[in-house]
Amino acid sequence: MAGASASAFPAARVWAAKTVGSGFSIDEFEQRIARRDFRDISKDLLPTPSMVVDLDLFQQNVKRMADQTKSTGINVRPHVKVHKSVDVARHQISHGAIGLTCATIAEAELFSGSGIKNVLWTKQPVSVNNIRRAVALSKKDPTFMFVVDDAQVLQWVTEAAAAANTKLRIAVSVDANMPRQGIENGQAALELAQKVHSAKRVQFEGFMAYSGGAAHTKVWTNRRKRSSDDLAGVRESVALAKKSGLPVNIVTGGSTGTYNIDHDNGLTELEAGSYVFMDTAYFSIGGQDDDKVYSDFKGALTVLTTVDSKHHPNLVSTDYGNKAITRPTDQVKGMPWLQVGTQGAEYGALKWTATDKDVKLGDRVEIYCSNLDMSTNAFDRYYVTKGDQLVDVWPIMGRSGAVQR
Ligand SMILES: Cc1ncc(COP(=O)(O)O)c(C=O)c1O
Repeated sequence: MAGASASAFPAARVWAAKTVGSGFSIDEFEQRIARRDFRDISKDLLPTPSMVVDLDLFQQNVKRMADQTKSTGINVRPHVKVHKSVDVARHQISHGAIGLTCATIAEAELFSGSGIKNVLWTKQPVSVNNIRRAVALSKKDPTFMFVVDDAQVLQWVTEAAAAANTKLRIAVSVDANMPRQGIENGQAALELAQKVHSAKRVQFEGFMAYSGGAAHTKVWTNRRKRSSDDLAGVRESVALAKKSGLPVNIVTGGSTGTYNIDHDNGLTELEAGSYVFMDTAYFSIGGQDDDKVYSDFKGALTVLTTVDSKHHPNLVSTDYGNKAITRPTDQVKGMPWLQVGTQGAEYGALKWTATDKDVKLGDRVEIYCSNLDMSTNAFDRYYVTKGDQLVDVWPIMGRSGAVQR
């Protein structure tokens, strides 16, 4: 984390885990969590490895996005795959988010089922299972919408909608220079948009175009150019659609990396996700005023771990192992001289070379993870803290089996 500014990466302390004398048993700990009685529960008493959210930094991040969208006139429909949490989503909605973006139908069902409106699913339903679920969710929640990038899928979903006597809201997914989904821009996109618009029981919403290549492009000016280039074809498709008289309600895409760029690139809304917590993949992309460090959003999420063995020079073992998605690219909060290593399913390592530094048995450290999507999938709950004090617990409801469910 060389060169990290103090404001982006708040100083952390290393502290010795309490091994004796905590006020209550583990049974009482769980009972207290269940009844939301967090008095006297400090970070010392939390299990490890565990996910800890710094409430103040999280709220700052959400506010920063809200302020940016207000000042530039673009909307935000945040991506939930990053946090998978209804509590986080509700906070985003209360700060002006117009809905949510989901990667799977299971996520869409979860968040729509929690009462949040205008959920967008960014993949097209293809299997019988997914088609039925997309149609059923459209019936239950008429604000739900999804995308198609193929006329075949449009035919499948309209047949299923007719059988269920349900209306659908559909956006056309177009290519944004990323070889994974999206119909070719221009005439092909226009023809599919016209088919969606004229299909029975379907409301054409507009276009979706996610430029994944731009999101993590280093140096802000390079990122701005990459995003503009990636979205050039999308602007053409939108212009053709409007010219032919189609109502284009939304043009959705964008990311944490392009949140202060894409209002100039033809998007009407951002699908940004990582900004709520941030990960090390984003720290180093550089911001508008700093080519090295991206400090617009703060590291609000850490994995708390305990040093549980020390028998080798400049190396200790921790309980933050592969099952908790430890990565060598993780960074230790406040201690850039420590390098994170992997040792096994339940074993992580911390290594250092500096001769004037040390880590002791029982120390606890906090680590920024490398990729939020993967890491938050490995945990059941966020321990939400103010300073060292636990103030809330948010279940990670969209985690794990969500991909198969
Ligand atoms: C479809 C889609 N939209 C938007 C995003 C942007 O998310 P983030 O802000 O976390 O980079 C992603 C990230 O993978 C995505 O897959």
